[in-house]
Amino acid sequence: MTIPRNTKLTVVGAGSVGTALAYAALIRGSAREVVLYDIATAKAEAEVLDLAHGTPFVGSSSITGGSDIGLTAGSDVVVITAGAKQEPGQTRLELAGVNVGIMSKMLPALIELSPHAVYILVTNPCDVLTAVAERITDLPPGRIFSSGTVLDSARLRWLVAEAAGVAPQSVHALIVGEHGDTEFPLWSAATIGQTPLPEWTDSSGALLFPRERLETLTHDVVHAAYKVIAGKGATNYAIGLSGARIVEAVLRDERAVLPVSSVLHGYRGIDGVALSVPSIVGAGGVQRVLDTPMDDREAEQLQHSAQTLADSIALFT
Ligand code: 2OP
Repeated sequence: MTIPRNTKLTVVGAGSVGTALAYAALIRGSAREVVLYDIATAKAEAEVLDLAHGTPFVGSSSITGGSDIGLTAGSDVVVITAGAKQEPGQTRLELAGVNVGIMSKMLPALIELSPHAVYILVTNPCDVLTAVAERITDLPPGRIFSSGTVLDSARLRWLVAEAAGVAPQSVHALIVGEHGDTEFPLWSAATIGQTPLPEWTDSSGALLFPRERLETLTHDVVHAAYKVIAGKGATNYAIGLSGARIVEAVLRDERAVLPVSSVLHGYRGIDGVALSVPSIVGAGGVQRVLDTPMDDREAEQLQHSAQTLADSIALFT
């Protein structure tokens, strides 16, 4: 992959997610210059040093950082991962109070230093934070959005790929809605290669994805983070890769269709709520939100997700 020239990516938060994202960005060559910023000086400097020691083995990306917010100035993309993380059994929405507070304090200072950057929120609950962020800043539409269900869609593609014995890249399936408990797959449009999922058979001709199998897969994706958090205290590698992937779509002006979460205005009747639907991501952030076909059940699930998020956002406005 060619590293986009003269590009500066700031990752805010040197916890397990921010460092995994910076690591993924360095290895993938997502940006020329990666800055890792955190208010915890010793932690930030140690993580930067550790990452820097590995740069002879990556492309021409560099890593710097620390606790001086001035280091973030002039960024092209700022990814925010800082905030409280989910404890075992806790929902993402339960983090809203503390993380809305942290983000609201930090965001204006970052925007002052990088007024032309695209802002990507990863901190949970990312949909709620995106809606609040849009209200407290005057960034143009699309310049602030969240990683949404890019990660959940990757989980779904991997699970389906494992079941079918194909590469995850050949599975075309998306999770949309809240990045949280009300998210759901768009099964009606899911395919492996060109084959609709319900028609996919194994080599003996048996259908591999009957309705019950789809329900199990949905359950496994929605509960994936809880399982990882129960075992190791946090999720970080897959969200790190997801974040780096979104950054690349912006910095390379890819116009990639990704299920990121931006504030919707009149989308299937949804207004002022951020949730994930397939969107075109390129220079400037979200360039267009796509009016994706959904069957009746999916359309209902989208409204349920939107209502859940609207109730949470209402607590902060
Ligand atoms: C995840 O889905 C916890 O939101 C985080 O991995």
